[in-house]
Amino acid sequence: MIIAIDGPAASGKGTIARRLARHYALPHLDTGLLYRATARALLDEGARLDDPERAEAAARGLALTDFDEERLRGADMGEAASVVAALPQVRAALLEHQRRFAARPEGAVLDGRDIGTVICPDARVKLFVTASPETRAQRRALELRGRGEEVNFADVLADIRRRDERDSGRSSAPLVAAADALRLDTSELDVEEAVAAAVALVERRRAGA
Ligand code: CDP
Repeated sequence: MIIAIDGPAASGKGTIARRLARHYALPHLDTGLLYRATARALLDEGARLDDPERAEAAARGLALTDFDEERLRGADMGEAASVVAALPQVRAALLEHQRRFAARPEGAVLDGRDIGTVICPDARVKLFVTASPETRAQRRALELRGRGEEVNFADVLADIRRRDERDSGRSSAPLVAAADALRLDTSELDVEEAVAAAVALVERRRAGA
């Protein structure tokens, strides 16, 4: 079974994806890390984030097995990732890896922005996870403070809105719910409630509803 989970920044899709993977004993790929690692590689070599040739080379050259998540999870890298993610060359370079991951015999859980629309259009279950920008900014601010970053709510909210706009407005694989995705708004839900709601949606799809 392939479970495709898409949604905007800090909607809760990463947590839901990890928990669903554990619940159904499936491997999980956080595809945002691929874009974050591409951005990191470009910055490390002093290249511009919007240089299509170097960005494509960086994406193709990624060591896909061990990401240094500590260096990738910061706010600056989320912002940088959304710049390289708008380049079609980068998306094409990362497509095969994601498809191969999803093609495992037992299935997989993938989360990102275009999993249900581009990477796994035939996924058995597609979830589109959302929450209000304010809720997402609150969660992201908490998460970043937990990492030791000094952030204020207004900046985080502005960053979330900018990223929403960039991710939804780009011409290459924009963030959009697949027509057959089940929507899950987590604005009013805590983690356990959101996970329970996600499991219920997966079961609904598996039952053929
Ligand atoms: O956790 P958060 O949603 O903030 O970030 P992420 O999922 O790691 O994604 C960072 C950026 O990578 C997003 O803003 C997107 O621009 C891009 N991305 C994408 O375009 N396609 C994906 N499948 C995953 C991430």
